[in-house]
Amino acid sequence: LKNKTFGVYVHWPFCLSKCPYCDFNSHVRASIDIERWEKALLADLLSFHEKTFHQTVTSIFFGGGTPSLMPPHMVENLIKKVMDLWPVSSDLEISLEANPTSVEEKKFSALATAGVNRVSLGVQSLKENGLKFLGRTHSVSEAKKAIETARLNFKRYSLDFIYTRPAQTLKEWEEELQEALSLANGHLSLYQLTIEEGTPFFLSFHRGDFQLPSNDQSALFYEHTHAITQAHGYLPYEISNYAFPQQECRHNMTYWQYEDYIGVGPGAHSRLTFEGEKYAIRRHRSPEKWVEDVFLKNDGTHEVHVIPWKVKSEELLMMGLRLTQGISQEDFIEQLGCSFTEALNADKLQKLIKENLLEISESRLKATKDGRQRLDGILRYLFEGGAEHES
Ligand SMILES: C[S@@+](CC[C@H](N)C(=O)[O-])C[C@H]1O[C@@H](n2cnc3c(N)ncnc32)[C@H](O)[C@@H]1O
Ligand code: SF4
Repeated sequence: LKNKTFGVYVHWPFCLSKCPYCDFNSHVRASIDIERWEKALLADLLSFHEKTFHQTVTSIFFGGGTPSLMPPHMVENLIKKVMDLWPVSSDLEISLEANPTSVEEKKFSALATAGVNRVSLGVQSLKENGLKFLGRTHSVSEAKKAIETARLNFKRYSLDFIYTRPAQTLKEWEEELQEALSLANGHLSLYQLTIEEGTPFFLSFHRGDFQLPSNDQSALFYEHTHAITQAHGYLPYEISNYAFPQQECRHNMTYWQYEDYIGVGPGAHSRLTFEGEKYAIRRHRSPEKWVEDVFLKNDGTHEVHVIPWKVKSEELLMMGLRLTQGISQEDFIEQLGCSFTEALNADKLQKLIKENLLEISESRLKATKDGRQRLDGILRYLFEGGAEHES
């Protein structure tokens, strides 16, 4: 029954400037042929229709890059196309990532008219020095104005923040978080700053220009973030995501629950189940190559393959253990054809449970709060030498 629904991801790869910490597929271009891009995205959507026409769309997510730079009529045409091609659920979630600048804030009303019903605002910090360090182009007052306008235009909105910034004290973050909570409306994405290879921050960090908190300090920031958000009624439903009950981002839940989704636009990934196999499909990462691909073949597919059982088990665990609720035995069996204990090395599983990093309760395999902070290490340990059972 699960595979009868899916999410749709649309990638807009352009930004006005590149932030020094960001390794997303985002690019600055002097000019963009909007008409050509709209045609390409529409054609890329259509290319998925034959395999999925009988399935129901539960969410559309415009991500980036900076999709709030897309002209609202383009967003509207893409939403209409999805609705023409597929049945959609009655409570279809349509999210869009927006930068909180004054230019974008002025488009919120038109984006709402286009059908967007949830925005995710990249506030990142409510301190001018924080925004400056992160290389953001908006000010604190612009961000606050954008939040107000989002409140007036959209049923749901979420705020993104980056914390554990260099020299940020726990007390400063607690104050910033309290202010964020007073501006929020049921959903927050709170990320600890990570240094990604290939970014300007990677160079400056390794040159010693700034330092990050130690693992113990980061863990303390995380603990306090949990306690403060929980005191305001927010549940930590994923490693970095906090929401009122029922306010989780449905589209992202599709990824974490390893359900089907399609992705159009440069670098977009898809996971689609048909004829009993789960497929991984990928678009070209380069914006120009992707557009070329689409116009050449009416289809942006760059690579497609059946996901082998071992990779599927790794992906399912990597995604599902991010969630506080973990993975149900039922989903595990449906996706992998066997139970947790059959799929995983019993000794390793017992060791991780003993160390209070994993737990099995109510027929669900979960990472504990400590485990969720050390997920990479847990997965490396579980999978070195391969998963146990091949169905
Ligand atoms: C696709 S990105 C940003 C979307 C939008 N263009 C923006 O800047 O607000 C989604 C989120 O990931 C987070 N993020 C990106 N790179 C990060 C990093 N190196 N460390 C921590 N968080 C990061 C930011 O909070 C960002 O809002
Ligand atoms: S953080 Fe957002 S605005 Fe900054 S470069 Fe990445 S995608 Fe673009």
